[in-house]
Amino acid sequence: MAILEFTNVSKDYITEGQSVPALHEVTLNVEAGQFVALVGRSGCGKSTLLNLAGAMDFPTSGQVRVGGAVTSTLDDAGLTRLRRTKVGFIFQSFQLLNTLSVVENVELPLLLAGVGGAAEKALECLRLAGMEGYARRMPYQLSGGQMQRVGIARALVHEPVVLLADEPTGNLDTVTGDGILELLRGIAAGGGTAVVMATHSLEAAALTDRTVRLRDGRIAADSGH
Ligand SMILES: Nc1ncnc2c1ncn2[C@@H]1O[C@H](COP(=O)(O)OP(=O)(O)O)[C@@H](O)[C@H]1O
Ligand SMILES: [Mg+2]
Repeated sequence: MAILEFTNVSKDYITEGQSVPALHEVTLNVEAGQFVALVGRSGCGKSTLLNLAGAMDFPTSGQVRVGGAVTSTLDDAGLTRLRRTKVGFIFQSFQLLNTLSVVENVELPLLLAGVGGAAEKALECLRLAGMEGYARRMPYQLSGGQMQRVGIARALVHEPVVLLADEPTGNLDTVTGDGILELLRGIAAGGGTAVVMATHSLEAAALTDRTVRLRDGRIAADSGH
């Protein structure tokens, strides 16, 4: 079953009265267990696609379906629920809260959602990300690669159906980035979660099951390896 479905999705941004086209008639299905690289030059629409997939923004026309729900038909409560249960986001700049410890950062999504057993689940995800020994550290005591592992643990803690990663290795050296890619690959291979990753790196794209290439907001190629 498709976990993420884009059907004829177009997105135009309106800024200062001007309409900026970002995506044009994108149709795309992503299945559970897939690891998808989203590639294409800067400005081709990768981040826009991920934001629509995460229900952070909505299409101008067409439909985005995440875990069966059409994002543009949900009310605020439904959207909050979708974001807190179905979607995990990983950022290039990690986005950890500096005043919280590692384990507190990972617990936070569960605390916000009012889900019990947060500490235990956070430790389990830190273990999966190879960071179990760092739970009590503060983010500033970590390397970039370690921060991204914590970011991944946080994105996984509520067991999302889709993990969305926007240039997750963009701030890391190649060796560290490769470790992060292997981790993401393992998460997708686990079968329950699809991983969709925007990347500039062709090496990163070579490690995925599928590469979707965007050009000027359209899908120019879509291939498995
Ligand atoms: N919030 C926004 N407001 C106006 N234009 C935007 C906004 N976000 C992105 N764009 C424009 O949409 C297009 C696609 O951008 P983006 O999705 O960020 O591409 P990518 O992530 O591939 O670099 C670009 O032309 C960009 O300038
Ligand atoms: Mg981008």
